[in-house]
Amino acid sequence: MTNTPCPVIHAVVPAAGRGTRFLPITKSVPKEMLPIVDRPSIEYIVREATDAGISDVLFVTRAGKNAIEDYFDDEPGLEADLERAGKAQALEQVRLHRGLARVHSVRQGHPLGLGHAIFQAKQHVGDHPFAVLLPDDLMEPGSRLLSQMIQVRQALGGSVVALLKVTAQQATAYASTAVEVIDVPHGVDVEPGKLMRITDVVEKPPIDQVKSEYAVVGRYVLDPAVFDALENLGPGAGGEIQLTDGYAQMIDTDPAQGGGLYGVVIDERRFDTGDKLGYLAANVELALEDPTLGPTFRSFLEEKLGK
Ligand code: G1P
Repeated sequence: MTNTPCPVIHAVVPAAGRGTRFLPITKSVPKEMLPIVDRPSIEYIVREATDAGISDVLFVTRAGKNAIEDYFDDEPGLEADLERAGKAQALEQVRLHRGLARVHSVRQGHPLGLGHAIFQAKQHVGDHPFAVLLPDDLMEPGSRLLSQMIQVRQALGGSVVALLKVTAQQATAYASTAVEVIDVPHGVDVEPGKLMRITDVVEKPPIDQVKSEYAVVGRYVLDPAVFDALENLGPGAGGEIQLTDGYAQMIDTDPAQGGGLYGVVIDERRFDTGDKLGYLAANVELALEDPTLGPTFRSFLEEKLGK
């Protein structure tokens, strides 16, 4: 694959995790199906991909996670009932998923790590650049981040990751990067100072090996050359096959072979919905902004908190 700019058609959403940070509910409910206000968090993820112009989303799942795919099916029986009952608003809700990207799924039969999960998408994606959206990272609705990252890929080729400013302590829970600021190419809608070339990256480093204040969070636009890197990887941090170790190899790969690694710094809200506190924060903030629920919910909270 060369670094010829081309649009991104596919998104891959790894959803085979066990959700151990969110037990006990995740014993029987996939964490991606937990509601944020009135819809599962996975719908926000698919919507974000769709908004960025992506038309095809592949979930990487495992046993017990069928509810994710079921959610995106039509419900003709329910629709007919609602239609008969004249429940127009409810009908509209049931049909919302129709405007979204087409979804598919593939299984990760062995839980060998995020890099292994993404590798399961190779056959579906083929020789095209593709996005990866980690469903624990919820970007605020209407986020421009993924579109910006696709623009960077189109202008520069190579692979692009999202970067978040974190403390050194926080960086130990992420992939930590060494970066240098680069000029924003024409046609790329990123603020000056927020586009980086990544010169080094390490997965979950000990605190004395943190590279900078910039950590990778769960949005990626990857060259298919990353699949070749993943195919030959052994276990990394935590004994798992790490996605980070795959795209890290792009730093030293020739641009003509799909190499180059860039970062776009997030300047929007992002919630870690795989964590109980992050999940509650997402629900409270998005409920406050909901046109129907927001005003009443605000009064409720103000009364509760004695304001
Ligand atoms: C994963 C990635 C890590 C990244 C993080 C972002 O880690 O392995 O590189 O920084 O997502 O949320 P996880 O949170 O799955 O342990």
